[in-house]
Amino acid sequence: MASAAMLDVVDQDGLSIRFRRDSDLDACLALLRLVHERDSYPVIWPDDAAAWVSGRGALTAWVAERAGVIVGQVSLRPAAGTPVPVWEAGTGLASEWLGVVSRLFVDPGHRRTGTGRTLLQVAVVEARRRRLQPVLDVLIRNRDACLLYESQGWRRLGRFIWDMPDGSTEPAYAYTLV
Ligand SMILES: CC(C)(COP(=O)(O)OP(=O)(O)OC[C@H]1O[C@@H](n2cnc3c(N)ncnc32)[C@H](O)[C@@H]1OP(=O)(O)O)[C@@H](O)C(=O)NCCC(=O)NCCS
Repeated sequence: MASAAMLDVVDQDGLSIRFRRDSDLDACLALLRLVHERDSYPVIWPDDAAAWVSGRGALTAWVAERAGVIVGQVSLRPAAGTPVPVWEAGTGLASEWLGVVSRLFVDPGHRRTGTGRTLLQVAVVEARRRRLQPVLDVLIRNRDACLLYESQGWRRLGRFIWDMPDGSTEPAYAYTLV
Protein backbone atom coordinates (compact mmCIF):
# COMPACT_ATOMS: atom_id res chain seq x y z
CA MET A 1 0.00 0.00 0.00
CA ALA A 2 1.34 3.43 -0.92
CA SER A 3 2.05 5.95 1.77
CA ALA A 4 1.86 9.73 1.42
CA ALA A 5 5.63 9.95 1.77
CA MET A 6 6.44 7.75 -1.23
CA LEU A 7 4.19 8.96 -3.98
CA ASP A 8 6.93 9.19 -6.56
CA VAL A 9 7.46 5.44 -6.73
CA VAL A 10 5.90 2.33 -5.27
CA ASP A 11 7.49 -1.08 -5.81
CA GLN A 12 5.81 -4.34 -4.89
CA ASP A 13 5.83 -7.83 -6.39
CA GLY A 14 7.62 -6.72 -9.55
CA LEU A 15 5.14 -3.89 -10.05
CA SER A 16 6.46 -0.37 -10.06
CA ILE A 17 4.32 2.78 -9.99
CA ARG A 18 5.91 6.11 -10.88
CA PHE A 19 4.87 9.54 -12.08
CA ARG A 20 3.99 9.59 -15.77
CA ARG A 21 6.39 11.50 -18.02
CA ASP A 22 5.57 13.14 -21.37
CA SER A 23 7.78 10.49 -22.99
CA ASP A 24 5.37 7.78 -21.68
CA LEU A 25 2.38 9.11 -23.60
CA ASP A 26 2.94 7.11 -26.80
CA ALA A 27 3.10 3.86 -24.82
CA CYS A 28 -0.01 4.86 -22.85
CA LEU A 29 -1.83 5.62 -26.07
CA ALA A 30 -0.87 2.24 -27.59
CA LEU A 31 -2.14 0.56 -24.43
CA LEU A 32 -5.37 2.53 -24.54
CA ARG A 33 -5.95 1.26 -28.10
CA LEU A 34 -5.77 -2.34 -26.82
CA VAL A 35 -8.09 -1.52 -23.93
CA HIS A 36 -10.55 0.23 -26.25
CA GLU A 37 -10.68 -2.83 -28.54
CA ARG A 38 -11.15 -5.27 -25.67
CA ASP A 39 -13.24 -3.31 -23.17
CA SER A 40 -14.80 -0.44 -25.14
CA TYR A 41 -12.96 2.00 -22.86
CA PRO A 42 -13.42 4.64 -23.99
CA VAL A 43 -16.64 3.64 -25.77
CA ILE A 44 -15.91 5.96 -28.70
CA TRP A 45 -12.30 6.42 -29.77
CA PRO A 46 -11.58 10.13 -29.17
CA ASP A 47 -10.74 12.49 -32.06
CA ASP A 48 -7.73 13.68 -30.08
CA ALA A 49 -6.77 10.46 -28.34
CA ALA A 50 -3.40 11.83 -27.16
CA ALA A 51 -5.14 14.66 -25.29
CA TRP A 52 -7.71 12.21 -23.93
CA VAL A 53 -5.13 9.81 -22.56
CA SER A 54 -3.03 12.58 -21.04
CA GLY A 55 -6.18 13.99 -19.42
CA ARG A 56 -5.86 17.71 -19.97
CA GLY A 57 -5.83 19.54 -16.65
CA ALA A 58 -4.73 16.48 -14.67
CA LEU A 59 -3.16 17.31 -11.31
CA THR A 60 -0.91 14.24 -11.47
CA ALA A 61 -0.69 10.99 -13.42
CA TRP A 62 1.13 7.72 -12.81
CA VAL A 63 2.09 4.69 -14.84
CA ALA A 64 2.49 1.10 -13.71
CA GLU A 65 5.47 -0.86 -15.05
CA ARG A 66 6.40 -4.51 -15.05
CA ALA A 67 9.92 -5.38 -16.23
CA GLY A 68 10.25 -1.84 -17.61
CA VAL A 69 7.07 -2.09 -19.72
CA ILE A 70 4.10 0.19 -19.06
CA VAL A 71 1.08 -1.92 -18.14
CA GLY A 72 -1.34 0.71 -16.84
CA GLN A 73 -1.99 4.28 -15.92
CA VAL A 74 -4.18 6.52 -13.78
CA SER A 75 -4.57 10.24 -13.20
CA LEU A 76 -6.03 12.59 -10.63
CA ARG A 77 -7.88 15.68 -11.80
CA PRO A 78 -10.14 18.46 -10.48
CA ALA A 79 -13.90 17.86 -10.55
CA ALA A 80 -15.75 19.17 -13.61
CA GLY A 81 -18.56 18.19 -15.94
CA THR A 82 -21.72 16.10 -15.83
CA PRO A 83 -21.10 14.07 -12.63
CA VAL A 84 -20.39 17.11 -10.42
CA PRO A 85 -23.96 17.51 -9.05
CA VAL A 86 -24.07 13.80 -8.10
CA TRP A 87 -20.67 13.97 -6.39
CA GLU A 88 -21.57 17.19 -4.56
CA ALA A 89 -24.95 15.90 -3.38
CA GLY A 90 -23.48 12.55 -2.33
CA THR A 91 -20.45 13.86 -0.45
CA GLY A 92 -21.88 17.16 0.79
CA LEU A 93 -18.75 18.88 -0.53
CA ALA A 94 -18.31 21.61 -3.13
CA SER A 95 -16.46 20.56 -6.28
CA GLU A 96 -13.21 22.31 -5.29
CA TRP A 97 -12.87 19.80 -2.42
CA LEU A 98 -13.13 16.79 -4.72
CA GLY A 99 -10.31 14.91 -6.49
CA VAL A 100 -11.37 12.77 -9.44
CA VAL A 101 -9.57 9.48 -10.08
CA SER A 102 -9.59 9.27 -13.85
CA ARG A 103 -8.18 7.55 -16.96
CA LEU A 104 -7.53 4.28 -15.15
CA PHE A 105 -6.76 1.32 -17.38
CA VAL A 106 -4.59 -1.79 -17.30
CA ASP A 107 -3.09 -3.87 -20.11
CA PRO A 108 -5.49 -6.77 -20.84
CA GLY A 109 -2.51 -9.14 -20.65
CA HIS A 110 -1.74 -8.05 -17.08
CA ARG A 111 -5.14 -8.07 -15.41
CA ARG A 112 -6.04 -9.50 -11.99
CA THR A 113 -2.52 -9.06 -10.62
CA GLY A 114 -3.30 -6.06 -8.42
CA THR A 115 -2.18 -3.38 -10.88
CA GLY A 116 -5.51 -1.56 -11.03
CA ARG A 117 -5.86 -1.72 -7.25
CA THR A 118 -2.36 -0.30 -6.71
CA LEU A 119 -2.84 2.52 -9.23
CA LEU A 120 -6.14 3.37 -7.55
CA GLN A 121 -4.50 3.43 -4.11
CA VAL A 122 -1.73 5.75 -5.28
CA ALA A 123 -4.25 8.22 -6.72
CA VAL A 124 -6.26 8.10 -3.49
CA VAL A 125 -3.19 8.80 -1.36
CA GLU A 126 -2.42 11.85 -3.49
CA ALA A 127 -6.03 13.09 -3.29
CA ARG A 128 -5.92 12.80 0.50
CA ARG A 129 -2.54 14.53 0.63
CA ARG A 130 -4.17 17.43 -1.24
CA ARG A 131 -7.10 17.36 1.23
CA LEU A 132 -9.45 16.32 -1.57
CA GLN A 133 -12.25 13.77 -1.22
CA PRO A 134 -11.66 10.98 -3.78
CA VAL A 135 -14.49 10.55 -6.29
CA LEU A 136 -14.83 8.93 -9.69
CA ASP A 137 -17.37 8.01 -12.33
CA VAL A 138 -17.66 4.88 -14.41
CA LEU A 139 -19.94 3.69 -17.17
CA ILE A 140 -22.13 0.87 -15.92
CA ARG A 141 -20.96 -1.22 -18.87
CA ASN A 142 -17.37 -1.17 -17.42
CA ARG A 143 -18.24 -4.00 -15.06
CA ASP A 144 -14.67 -4.96 -14.12
CA ALA A 145 -14.00 -1.39 -13.03
CA CYS A 146 -17.18 -1.30 -10.90
CA LEU A 147 -16.07 -4.57 -9.27
CA LEU A 148 -12.61 -3.12 -8.59
CA TYR A 149 -14.02 0.03 -6.97
CA GLU A 150 -16.52 -1.86 -4.82
CA SER A 151 -13.83 -4.35 -3.74
CA GLN A 152 -11.79 -1.36 -2.49
CA GLY A 153 -14.60 0.15 -0.43
CA TRP A 154 -15.84 2.79 -2.85
CA ARG A 155 -19.50 3.72 -2.29
CA ARG A 156 -21.96 4.33 -5.09
CA LEU A 157 -23.48 7.83 -4.81
CA GLY A 158 -25.89 7.70 -7.71
CA ARG A 159 -26.58 7.01 -11.32
CA PHE A 160 -26.48 9.60 -14.10
CA ILE A 161 -26.39 9.77 -17.88
CA TRP A 162 -23.40 10.71 -20.03
CA ASP A 163 -24.08 12.30 -23.42
CA MET A 164 -21.67 10.67 -25.85
CA PRO A 165 -19.94 12.43 -28.78
CA ASP A 166 -22.04 10.49 -31.33
CA GLY A 167 -25.34 11.62 -29.78
CA SER A 168 -25.98 8.37 -27.89
CA THR A 169 -26.25 8.16 -24.11
CA GLU A 170 -24.56 5.90 -21.55
CA PRO A 171 -25.68 5.26 -17.96
CA ALA A 172 -22.94 5.72 -15.39
CA TYR A 173 -22.33 5.55 -11.64
CA ALA A 174 -20.68 8.18 -9.46
CA TYR A 175 -18.62 6.86 -6.54
CA THR A 176 -16.72 8.14 -3.54
CA LEU A 177 -14.38 6.44 -1.11
CA VAL A 178 -15.63 6.32 2.44
C1 LIG B 1 -10.80 -2.08 -14.18
C2 LIG B 1 -9.33 -2.45 -14.41
C3 LIG B 1 -8.47 -1.19 -14.34
C4 LIG B 1 -8.91 -3.43 -13.28
O1 LIG B 1 -7.51 -3.67 -13.42
P1 LIG B 1 -6.81 -4.97 -12.80
O2 LIG B 1 -5.35 -4.68 -12.73
O3 LIG B 1 -7.23 -6.20 -13.52
O4 LIG B 1 -7.44 -5.00 -11.31
P2 LIG B 1 -6.83 -5.72 -10.02
O5 LIG B 1 -6.05 -6.93 -10.42
O6 LIG B 1 -6.11 -4.72 -9.21
O7 LIG B 1 -8.18 -6.18 -9.28
C5 LIG B 1 -8.43 -5.83 -7.92
C6 LIG B 1 -9.77 -6.39 -7.52
O8 LIG B 1 -10.82 -5.82 -8.31
C7 LIG B 1 -11.84 -6.82 -8.56
N1 LIG B 1 -11.85 -7.15 -10.00
C8 LIG B 1 -11.10 -6.57 -10.96
N2 LIG B 1 -11.39 -7.12 -12.17
C9 LIG B 1 -12.33 -8.05 -11.95
C10 LIG B 1 -13.01 -8.96 -12.79
N3 LIG B 1 -12.78 -9.03 -14.12
N4 LIG B 1 -13.93 -9.80 -12.23
C11 LIG B 1 -14.18 -9.78 -10.92
N5 LIG B 1 -13.53 -8.92 -10.05
C12 LIG B 1 -12.64 -8.07 -10.57
C13 LIG B 1 -11.43 -8.05 -7.75
O9 LIG B 1 -11.96 -7.89 -6.46
C14 LIG B 1 -9.91 -7.88 -7.73
O10 LIG B 1 -9.27 -8.57 -6.67
P3 LIG B 1 -8.86 -10.14 -6.85
O11 LIG B 1 -8.16 -10.25 -8.18
O12 LIG B 1 -7.94 -10.38 -5.69
O13 LIG B 1 -10.14 -10.92 -6.82
C15 LIG B 1 -9.14 -3.18 -15.77
O14 LIG B 1 -10.07 -4.25 -15.85
C16 LIG B 1 -9.33 -2.28 -16.97
O15 LIG B 1 -8.39 -1.64 -17.42
N6 LIG B 1 -10.58 -2.22 -17.53
C17 LIG B 1 -10.85 -1.42 -18.74
C18 LIG B 1 -10.73 0.06 -18.50
C19 LIG B 1 -11.77 0.60 -17.53
O16 LIG B 1 -12.92 0.17 -17.51
N7 LIG B 1 -11.33 1.56 -16.73
C20 LIG B 1 -12.15 2.18 -15.73
C21 LIG B 1 -12.69 3.45 -16.21
S1 LIG B 1 -13.67 4.30 -15.00
